[in-house]
Amino acid sequence: MGYLHQTIGIDARYTRQRNAWRPHLENSQAFILKTAQSCKRRRKAVLMGAATLHDLPLEALANLFEEIVLVDLFHLWSARWLAFKNQNITLNVCDLTASLETIYSGDTTVHEPVEFLDDDDVDFVVSANIASQLPLIPLDWLKGHFNIDARERQKFGEEIISAHFDYLDKFRATTCLISDAERVALDKNGKAISRQPALFGISPPPHQASWEWDIAPYGELNHQLATRHIVIAAILGQNSGT
Ligand SMILES: C[S@@+](CC[C@H](N)C(=O)[O-])C[C@H]1O[C@@H](n2cnc3c(N)ncnc32)[C@H](O)[C@@H]1O
Repeated sequence: MGYLHQTIGIDARYTRQRNAWRPHLENSQAFILKTAQSCKRRRKAVLMGAATLHDLPLEALANLFEEIVLVDLFHLWSARWLAFKNQNITLNVCDLTASLETIYSGDTTVHEPVEFLDDDDVDFVVSANIASQLPLIPLDWLKGHFNIDARERQKFGEEIISAHFDYLDKFRATTCLISDAERVALDKNGKAISRQPALFGISPPPHQASWEWDIAPYGELNHQLATRHIVIAAILGQNSGT
């Protein structure tokens, strides 16, 4: 469906825009690490959206937790190498929407993800800049291969994101969400000329921090426009035992 291509594209854009992305990546890592340090029990940490690892303070987390599970549809060489080198880092390939198989054949039913919910050792969960991404490639696929209208696309996007938030809420662990909430287009003078919600109309949960991510400065996608994301960071659940 195009996931590997997208992940390699994200990695390449990171290389080009390293300086512009630095504040966002540092903010993400600092928020995740601070939340992790608040966990009383530190057995297993499940990190979702861990293909390229740029926004995860992996070494620090690997020192805090007995086991780290990196979850994504793919893992790039950097994650594979770290898992090879560190006995307490493992890779898990998982569809976090639990729906890709049926979407592939044009069925827009959104299923409930359950991976790791029955694992009592999970003390920390991170959703790292994936929530807004979950509907995008499926929607491109559905639009390109099946006849679904704008109303259906909107409903599907909302359902995928709601299902992800509901899934995160079900963990009996300290659970942390980093997600873009809004996409802003800026003209050459830095003036915002359009703002779009990134979560398909689903309200972002109450959050403890927010910052700007200059994801595509002038020239990356367009010479006249730059794209900035407004990112939120939230602690969704903090189990008193964890
Ligand atoms: C914007 S990237 C996240 C950035 C990442 N945290 C990093 O290393 O900087 C979105 C990630 O979500 C993953 N992803 C998208 N849909 C997914 C799905 N259905 N299941 C699991 N991972 C998915 C992609 O493979 C990609 O690695």
